[in-house]
Amino acid sequence: MGIYARHVLPRLVNVACGMKANLPLRDRACAGLHGDVVEIGFGSGLNVPHYPEAVTQVWAVEPADLGWKLAQGRLRASSTPVERIGLDGQSLPLPDDSCDTALSTWTLCTIPDVAAALREVRRVLKPGGTLHFVEHGLAPDEEVRRTQHRLEPIQKRIAGGCHLTRPIAALLTDAGFDIRELDVFYEEGAPRFLAAESLGIAVSPD
Ligand SMILES: C[S@@+](CC[C@H](N)C(=O)[O-])C[C@H]1O[C@@H](n2cnc3c(N)ncnc32)[C@H](O)[C@@H]1O
Repeated sequence: MGIYARHVLPRLVNVACGMKANLPLRDRACAGLHGDVVEIGFGSGLNVPHYPEAVTQVWAVEPADLGWKLAQGRLRASSTPVERIGLDGQSLPLPDDSCDTALSTWTLCTIPDVAAALREVRRVLKPGGTLHFVEHGLAPDEEVRRTQHRLEPIQKRIAGGCHLTRPIAALLTDAGFDIRELDVFYEEGAPRFLAAESLGIAVSPD
């Protein structure tokens, strides 16, 4: 990790992902989480205030030390136990079938081998366990997609490898998840190429 990725990007992510418009989306993504939860791309803990009471333990996976440091205030203000157990969603240090639910918010865009990360989430989820997600990705409209393809190389450079064109629902089904709920929409207040959101719940089949 270079200086920008270590010392600058986590602060930018904390501000950009911390925008008010995301609060209701975090609430919706976290609704129904329960038991042992693995959260990939924990960032600066912006989901912590949104965890439902039924969550008993969160296993946080986040490569950026500064993100984890920025999360400390939110963690102190919460009664949910959260432990940072790993740095990479592509290789989760958790046993098979050990988590009830999983959470990913605006992270599948960035993990280099997203298919590997989704395989790992499936491995650690109990049969019938659910992945709760809100992610930006490939837009439903061709015109917006053209802009996304044009800007993706720049986005990847300035935003820590963030892709604009990942087809979120297809990635989930390719990884063997069944999609139980899916809402695809443009988030208000952001340019459409960045704001094509997929929010829902995917089930890891029995
Ligand atoms: C756009 S941020 C979203 C952060 C957080 N989920 C949120 O909603 O505020 C993407 C996060 O994914 C993390 N990340 C990057 N590569 C990762 C990997 N291989 N495994 C897990 N997380 C990763 C980044 O450090 C960053 O915190």
